[in-house]
Amino acid sequence: MNSIQILLNGKPVECIVGERLIDVIQRSNVELAAVCYHPQLGPVQTCDTCVVECQGELIRACSTVVQADMDLSTNSDRAATARRDAFDQLLTSHQLYCTVCDNNNGNCVMHNTTKLLQIEGQTRPFEPKPYEVDESNPFYRYDPDQCLLCGRCVEACQNIEVNETLSINWEDPNPRVLWDGGVPIGQSSCVSCGHCVTVCPCNALMEKSMLGHAGFLTGVSKKTLDGMIDIVKEIEPETGFRSILRISEAESAMRQSRIRRTKTVCTYCGVGCSFEVWTKDRHILKIEPEHGPVNGISTCIKGKFGWDFVNSKDRLTHPLIREGESFREATWDEAFTYIADNLRRIRKTHGADAIGVISSSKCSNEESFLMQKLARAIIGTNNVDNCSRYCQAPATAGLFRTVGYGGDSGSVTDIAQADLVIIIGSNTTESHPVIATRIKRAHKLHGQKLIVADLRSHEMARRADLFIRPRPGTDLIWLSAITRYILDHDLAADSFLEQWVNNLDEFRESLEPFSLEFAEEKTGIPIQTLTKIAQMVAQSPRVAICWAMGVTQHSMGSDTSTAISNLLLVTGNYMRAGTGAYPLRGHNNVQGASDMGSMPNMLPGYQPVEDIEVRERFESAWGTTLPTTKGLDNHEMIHAILDGRLRAMYLCGEEMSLVDADANLVQKAFSQLDFMIVQDVFFSHTCQFANIVLPASPSLEKDGTFTNTERRIQRFYQVFEPLGESRPDWRIVQGIANELGAMWTYQHPSEIMAEAASLTPLLSGVSFERLEGYQSQQWPVAEDGSDQSILYENGFAFTDSKARLHPVSWNEPVDQPNDEYDLHLNNGNLLEHFHEGNLTYLVPGIREKTPDVFVEVSPELASKRGITNGTRVELTSRYGQVSVRALVTDRVQGNQLFMPMNSSDSPVNMLIGANTDPVTHTPAYKESSVRMRVLHEEDSPLPNHNFRFGRPTPQDGVEVHRKWSQSNASNPVTLYQIQSKIS
Ligand code: SF4
Ligand code: SF4
Ligand code: SF4
Ligand code: FES
Repeated sequence: MNSIQILLNGKPVECIVGERLIDVIQRSNVELAAVCYHPQLGPVQTCDTCVVECQGELIRACSTVVQADMDLSTNSDRAATARRDAFDQLLTSHQLYCTVCDNNNGNCVMHNTTKLLQIEGQTRPFEPKPYEVDESNPFYRYDPDQCLLCGRCVEACQNIEVNETLSINWEDPNPRVLWDGGVPIGQSSCVSCGHCVTVCPCNALMEKSMLGHAGFLTGVSKKTLDGMIDIVKEIEPETGFRSILRISEAESAMRQSRIRRTKTVCTYCGVGCSFEVWTKDRHILKIEPEHGPVNGISTCIKGKFGWDFVNSKDRLTHPLIREGESFREATWDEAFTYIADNLRRIRKTHGADAIGVISSSKCSNEESFLMQKLARAIIGTNNVDNCSRYCQAPATAGLFRTVGYGGDSGSVTDIAQADLVIIIGSNTTESHPVIATRIKRAHKLHGQKLIVADLRSHEMARRADLFIRPRPGTDLIWLSAITRYILDHDLAADSFLEQWVNNLDEFRESLEPFSLEFAEEKTGIPIQTLTKIAQMVAQSPRVAICWAMGVTQHSMGSDTSTAISNLLLVTGNYMRAGTGAYPLRGHNNVQGASDMGSMPNMLPGYQPVEDIEVRERFESAWGTTLPTTKGLDNHEMIHAILDGRLRAMYLCGEEMSLVDADANLVQKAFSQLDFMIVQDVFFSHTCQFANIVLPASPSLEKDGTFTNTERRIQRFYQVFEPLGESRPDWRIVQGIANELGAMWTYQHPSEIMAEAASLTPLLSGVSFERLEGYQSQQWPVAEDGSDQSILYENGFAFTDSKARLHPVSWNEPVDQPNDEYDLHLNNGNLLEHFHEGNLTYLVPGIREKTPDVFVEVSPELASKRGITNGTRVELTSRYGQVSVRALVTDRVQGNQLFMPMNSSDSPVNMLIGANTDPVTHTPAYKESSVRMRVLHEEDSPLPNHNFRFGRPTPQDGVEVHRKWSQSNASNPVTLYQIQSKIS
């Protein structure tokens, strides 16, 4: 790293070339105002409160980078006067009524700057704006009168979230922040990600959950509040700001005693956003992201606003034991005895392998570790699995075959750095929203190229440089065809292949069927386009490929994942920053559930159950013998129930009766079980089949760790006490184990992680101490705690350190359309709901925006069948039937339909068959054919205030040059001739 020296207030300071002055100044503990600057946004340059003097010129510290021999003064009179004047200008747009403001929590930039600059009063009067407060979004509100027009929110929306909803009408005599150019927030394209609210330096944008709750004096009517503000403003000229600020600071300090700020990790998707939860008693005031290693200031609607379920009145609060057709409340002692008696009975009569255990990808690593330990060491079976079988197992299999580890080969920052990103079968904007923001930003600002292969024209597809729509189930073909083209045309990374990759000759031969002509015929993608893709891949220095359920949930999910990895190997796109394979994990801890051994064939850390040396290590630590052969996976468990081999199930936190394919068959199987334990936060659909239901605590009510899609392990901390009699899952598992004779004495999840680390080379240096606060570790973690952000930097995870090209072949997808079932049915996530919606339907704001499930119908099919938005249709497959309302949209084309997963009333899985990927038994959810019958007209399933109907206004950030080009002689920038206006 090159460094240079500058003088700061007469003292020499070492700086890194390219650093911004503001960062140097703040790092040197010199206080400097900077209202519009946020390090994660970069210089916005609207406020001029950061002005400093450099060799006689006034310059903005936020937008100027260091140059050798700069002589910088923050305390020259000229600079100080310019800063105070600039701030005075800002006060024309913002009323300081801190004592009665819900944003007065020690981090209000306006409050703190008033204090820093020792402002005693203002020379320019406050000027209210001629606009109403906008309350039309369910989660946040905008108060134009408090808005400084600093533009942070616009920058965040345009260039971090890249939803491109916000702008400022600088040319208007009364500029303000606009949504979609000037519609109410609630009718705009705003996706409620919360970026703008998070970065707002004052109370202009605020979470509604804060309003009236944060302050001691703020929970009063608007009329009273206005009266209080008037009183403050009346005495202010006499007292000056300083004494008023003192009162507000005393009030702010008092708030610290009752507002708790606790770090957590998001409970929804596998991105792994982390943030503080601000709470007052059990009320969630807000989610405040800033320091998360993955997300920084970023969140999506679910992480920022999707937490109402925690305090839902529908939470399970007592163990429930079935009595006939209903359930009665029971004590924990009674529950544990009842469970142990029944498990013992079944084990005695039918053997340990008559019991199956399903661990949850929503639970912590420590809980998953205990679930598999319970199954293996206490019950005595390897029948343990988790829901990665439903989505991610094929990606893991493809990577195990080729590169040796079943995880993302780099980090989200690598995806952002890539020159070319290819997204296959992933609606990244809706399923992994914060990862999508990084790609959208790199694409918009940094020249990253984007290729998308998908059935649907979703947002990433619309943004892509190249969007292809291969016929369903043919991704393997085009991937193999372009790999062959690259090899045939000497475009491969020869020296990389020579040094790092085995099996090239056999692999090359296996590609023989995949000519461009064959690929065109089967995929429908023209040869010209395929050639273009091959050339883009071969010519890009760094390529990252992201994929998800659109690839894995096929009958060839593992082979298609393998084809992706083969392509990356042939082009040398492993082992370096900005390259690699990124199977985007769905649930928050689906990676960790498998890492921790909730798999029928693997002990923690992917150590085979059949390896004697591995088994002996666990047996010696656990003081027992372990089952020696692979157990049943969750798909096999269903069939084992139906043929009488499996008699009991312990199912933790999985809505398996709805989310497994062929849901009718799964439900039939569950109704045949002798004994079923379901542990969950709510009385899920699956609870209906249980003999006993155990009330578990969600992540906010316990400590633990989650592992995100980039193998990153992060701690979350307990925010609330468990509700009612509910308990953290690890305590429940320990209770059951001990009733069965184990003598576990875990007092805290850290002890469980310590045990897991001691038995698992992949995790040997993981500890709660090393994960304190926002610290994280990406496995593999060596004993000294060092981790790996990029996998394979020193070789692949095989004994000879070389990767293996793995030949694959293609078969016709199953469940193809025919005359009777003439439409192809696709399915997937929505941004605002998570999977079946058990948590997100309990968030009123989300329900208001997206109240129901629907089926997307293409305009051409809709016109043929006489369907409009809201037409109720009946979909019938070879396996089941649902009725649902139609949404006509060009996101889908021709005879392809799409149904979101978020419904327990009309779950799409009723329509999906039991076909699976033969390698992993992952259901072929994406291969389904249906016929559609038109029923009658109803209202549109999506209200017109859903963000999908908005019209974003993309622009180049806040476009501050438009502000400074307005003639306004009183602008500080004009008065003080500040240099380098826009850098
Ligand atoms: S999408 Fe909405 S919530 Fe997100 S930054 Fe833009 S305006 Fe704010
Ligand atoms: S609403 Fe936007 S422009 Fe207004 S103060 Fe907040 S961040 Fe700045
Ligand atoms: S759901 Fe995913 S993207 Fe959204 S905040 Fe949570 S972890 Fe981040
Ligand atoms: S911090 Fe606003 S212009 Fe520099």
